Amino acid sequence: MDNKCKRAYITTPIYYVNDVPHIGHAYTTIICDTLARYSRLTGLETYFLTGTDEHGQKIEEAAKKRGKSAKQYADEISGYFKDLWDEFEISYDKFIRTTDKEHIKGVQKAFEVMYKKGDIYKDMYEGHYCVSCESFFTKNQLIDNEYCPDCGKPTNIVKEESYFFKLSKYEKKLLEWYNDKENCVLPKGKKNEVISFVEQGLKDLSVTRTSFDWGIKLPKSINDPKHVMYVWLDALLNYITALGYGDDEKLMKFWPATVHVVGKDILRFHAIYWPAFLMSLDLPLPKHIAAHGWWTRNGEKMSKSKGNVVNPRDVANAYGLENFRYFMLREVPFGQDGDFSQKALMDRINSDLSNDLGNLVNRVLGMSGKYFDMKVNSKDVEKFHKKELEEATNIINNLYTYIYDMQLNRYLEGLWKVLTIANQSIATYEPWKKMKESKEDEAMALVALIANLLVKVSIMLHPVMPKSTQKIASVFGVEINTESYKKYIENEELLGEITLEKIPPLFPKIEKMLMTSPEPTTVKETKKDKKEDTKSDGIITIDQFFQTKLKIGTILEAVEVEGSDKLLKLQVDLGEEKPRQIIAGIKAYYKPEELLQTQICVVSNLKPAKIFGHKSEGMLLAAKDKNSLSLMRPQNRVADGSSVG
Ligand code: MSP
Repeated sequence: MDNKCKRAYITTPIYYVNDVPHIGHAYTTIICDTLARYSRLTGLETYFLTGTDEHGQKIEEAAKKRGKSAKQYADEISGYFKDLWDEFEISYDKFIRTTDKEHIKGVQKAFEVMYKKGDIYKDMYEGHYCVSCESFFTKNQLIDNEYCPDCGKPTNIVKEESYFFKLSKYEKKLLEWYNDKENCVLPKGKKNEVISFVEQGLKDLSVTRTSFDWGIKLPKSINDPKHVMYVWLDALLNYITALGYGDDEKLMKFWPATVHVVGKDILRFHAIYWPAFLMSLDLPLPKHIAAHGWWTRNGEKMSKSKGNVVNPRDVANAYGLENFRYFMLREVPFGQDGDFSQKALMDRINSDLSNDLGNLVNRVLGMSGKYFDMKVNSKDVEKFHKKELEEATNIINNLYTYIYDMQLNRYLEGLWKVLTIANQSIATYEPWKKMKESKEDEAMALVALIANLLVKVSIMLHPVMPKSTQKIASVFGVEINTESYKKYIENEELLGEITLEKIPPLFPKIEKMLMTSPEPTTVKETKKDKKEDTKSDGIITIDQFFQTKLKIGTILEAVEVEGSDKLLKLQVDLGEEKPRQIIAGIKAYYKPEELLQTQICVVSNLKPAKIFGHKSEGMLLAAKDKNSLSLMRPQNRVADGSSVG
């Protein structure tokens, strides 16, 4: 984000309506909501857009499967997204649907402009199409000549008349843009991937389809009714049709977007196609396109078929919405993948929120109550705590840089450094001793230091945890808004003479996991097992354990899976007729050559699965903590195929 302009326009991707919302969707939306709340707090005129992407073959097929019309189905699922965001109090200014009349009109207008300019022409398309990614591929890009390089699902061969967008014409201009605007694509590592993709040469893009119906028709002026628009052209244009492009353009004052936040899987569409479309429309380019990583479960992609999808509503209901928001933003650096676990969420709540923040509020209330009848006066803070105050102010004054780089985890780390200064000051200056020594002014200065730091932290934390921070600020009689932001943050003012208001303790500790699902299991549970399992708090019988057949095997071959930044393909000798092929997400931790001839422990009775287009006939066991992963191996070499138990 940019700190010089007066307006901010922040967008989420628009979500496909073929699936209900999961934590991945919630993550993008929570990031954007935080950015929007931050912009408003700092006084920028802000427009925050989200919505649903409702056309295309994928949706048409999903609706058909359920015996519904595409529109009926889209209405239903779009409603789920909107309801969830409303329940989560997401502060969007507009919820766009690509079936909205105004959007359709704007898309047709844009198509017409590009066509008249000579950037769209008619030809034949022949190639491969992945319905799941709504994406075209050449044969060379496919895995094993058939599977989608992005999602691993089989592709279809498409041969049809199509209109093409002259993407190749914009190759050079795109490269110039990446070069001129350092932060146009974030994080930088991802930007380099985009640049090398473009440097390999861009082919013109097929932007219409004739083999299905569920899409926006071409403008009447082109008069070619059998075509509907390619869903990505339709979808990307939502960022301007939401502002009234091609209709009432009052809101176009928000263009160009400050930031389009997207997942890494859809960066190519946003960082290549979208700016090229905008160049064709002679519109300015977005200031930033920022790609975040993926949330996984036990290192695996979440999917309905694996039964490991985490429902954001369940997490928020069990652990508290704001705790969940904090966790998602704090736990993983922007751009990297993160593994969702209840344990990690509980640790964050108990340690960061309950100990570091909630307790500090209790302590300041306790000290001021015990020593000063709830009064706090900041007059001597600078005299006794200049150093602590300066240190904290420096941190706070630099926080905006993390927002502009999208490093929300570092923004939060900064705030926790301020809390550490506060907590350590209590330990260092021991106000109870000062009171005994009748140094009441020093004790008061310490209490006032903590009060002031808590006010500053609660203002800056407000975009992430709006309600809890307002509760904290109310202890000190502060209402969090742009005015108080200017006063306590920009102008660095201190609190005057105040009387603290008591509030009930915040962030109670969580002692045990509050959700029973989804805790993915390798062995399919029967209903009966499930019941017993919940009753006994996760305890299983020895028979249940032995349903999982663990065996030792030697790795004979290890190679990287092309196109994947996580996977290795292993051939493992389990003492059977043929080695087993296992696809394992360990590339970040092991080089293929160091695995050769080492033994590992394998779950040998897993149903084979296709991962990234490759058959996988087992799963290896590894221990994982925040930073590392370590394969489970026998202490001494044993015969291949030896069972573990
Ligand atoms: N409809 C397109 C976007 C069009 S924008 C003009 C689309 N929709 S989606 O519903 O499939 O995905 C929406 C967003 O959710 C993407 O940014 C995607 O990266 C994100 N996520 C989906 N699953 C995710 C995780 N497991 N983790 C984090 N985010 C992921 O793509």
